[in-house]
Order: sequence, then C-alpha cells, then structure tokens
Amino acid sequence: MSNKVMLITGGTSGLGAAAARSFAADGYQVVFCGRRSAEGKAIETSIREAGGEALYVQADVTQEDQMELLVQQTIERYGRLDAAFNNAGANLYFGPLEKMSSAQFMDNIQLNLTGVFNAMKYQILAMQQNGGSIINTASTAGVKGVGQGIAAYVAAKHGVVGLTKAAALEQARNGIRVNALIISAMATEQWLEKIDKTPGLYEKIAAGMPMGKVSRVEDILPAVAFLASDGARFITGAAIPVDGGVTAG
Ligand SMILES: NC(=O)c1ccc[n+]([C@@H]2O[C@H](COP(=O)([O-])OP(=O)(O)OC[C@H]3O[C@@H](n4cnc5c(N)ncnc54)[C@H](OP(=O)(O)O)[C@@H]3O)[C@@H](O)[C@H]2O)c1
Repeated sequence: MSNKVMLITGGTSGLGAAAARSFAADGYQVVFCGRRSAEGKAIETSIREAGGEALYVQADVTQEDQMELLVQQTIERYGRLDAAFNNAGANLYFGPLEKMSSAQFMDNIQLNLTGVFNAMKYQILAMQQNGGSIINTASTAGVKGVGQGIAAYVAAKHGVVGLTKAAALEQARNGIRVNALIISAMATEQWLEKIDKTPGLYEKIAAGMPMGKVSRVEDILPAVAFLASDGARFITGAAIPVDGGVTAG
C-alpha cells in the first residue's frame, strides 16, 4: 500500500480522523480536510509524530472552489491521487418536514450531497490518468427512511447513493471505482457526547440494533481499506452495508 495517496474529507473528528490515522499507519500519504484548523493541525502533527505522512488542509466541502484547491494541493504535494474517502457529513436539523425551512433543507443537501459532488468532481478529474477508488460515506438513511425528523438528511444520503452509482457507471471504463458505505449508528466520541446527555438513550439505541450494539470506527475502517485496495478491483457502484444487519430487516 505504500506510496499511495488518499484524500479524506471530514477528517478532523470521528470516522474521518480515525481513517486519516489508520491509512497513514498503513503507509498511505494522507491529505485530509475539515473546517476546524486547530483539530486538523493537531491530527496532522500526531500522525507525523507516529511516523506517518499527512497533510491537513482547511476546506469546506460545500464550497466548490475549495474542493478544487484541495485536490490541487494534494497533487502538488504528493504528485497523484489514488483513493478518496468522501466522509464529511452530519444531520444539521432535527424536526418534522413541515416545520423545516427550505434554507434548513438546503443546508443539509449542501453539506451531505453537494459536498460529495464538489469533492468527487475534482477527484475524478485527478484520477483520469491512473484510475482510483472513491468511497462515499452514506448511511442507513441512504437506503431507508430511518428515524423521524431527519428528512433532509435522509434525502441527501439517498442522493449520495444515487450519485455513487451514476458516477461508477460513468467512470467504469476509466479505471475509477466509486462505492458507498451504508453505516448505522456509530459511537464516535462526538456522538457519545450527545447521546450521554440523555440517560439511557445509548442503551435504548443499542437494544434496537440487530447485534445489540452500535458500531465503533474500528468496525468501519476495514471496509474502507478494502474498498480502497486492489482486492476490491471488481467492485463498483455498490452501496455496501457495514451496519450490523440494520438494513437486512
Ligand atoms: N456517527 C453516526 O452514527 C453515523 C451514522 C451513519 C452515517 N454517518 C456518517 O459518517 C460520516 C462521519 O460522521 P462522524 O460520526 O464521524 O461525524 P463527526 O465526528 O461529526 O465528523 C464529521 C466530519 O465532517 C466534517 N465536516 C462537517 N461539515 C463540513 C464541511 N462543511 N466541510 C468540510 N468538512 C465538514 C467535520 O469537520 P469540521 O467540523 O472541522 O468541518 C468532521 O471532520 C458522516 O458523513 C455521517 O453522516 C455517521
């Protein structure tokens, strides 16, 4: 895996930060972005101190020019782009659809769907010559109307799955594979912080999962690594559940 270049969006916390550390430990040269520069720089430093190679770039996925620059900086620093993990995302509003403003709806679409488009567009251009693997973080909300009060997030993540399939077919003969991950509730530090504010909520969510537990980042990362690798060379346009069986029901 050594000398491969991986670009990660949303790498300043949670799954993206864990992916940046993990791919760097596996010998990838990692470029990652997020808006919070203090967090980004601290992660970059800790990866370098551990002997890895990483570059943090402050960039917002909702801004197309910043995604263009991000890919440009990746090529300038490391000379190529082999894999991309488009992971930046979050549900920005909770509440029923009829109470959601169109601005709130669009904010969710901008971050979770347009953000993936903005990133993929320049990644695909950079991968035209040597091919590559793009992995988009979707969600069980990308294949089911899960939960209540997250309609915009559900619509955006369904869009990510559609965009993944369409791009995969467009790029299939260019050696660029595009896949999505269907992730269920995942206990990152940030997620646990929110959940811990309501006593008993974690247990309730875990009890509703087929395996009786929610995932941790370590449960997801092997799938990202596999999709980025040559072992997944005949897999494209797939929305792969790494969800402990949630979407099997
Ligand atoms: N945790 C779960 O239960 C769960 C379940 C299913 C799917 N997912 C998906 O998994 C992905 C990672 O989630 P996580 O739980 O690891 O969340 P997280 O810890 O909140 O991380 C989200 C990342 O996205 C970045 N981000 C947010 N808005 C951004 C923007 N406009 N531009 C650039 N970066 C931005 C954040 O960085 P900055 O704030 O520094 O910009 C952060 O690095 C998301 O796509 C999420 O929808 C999570």
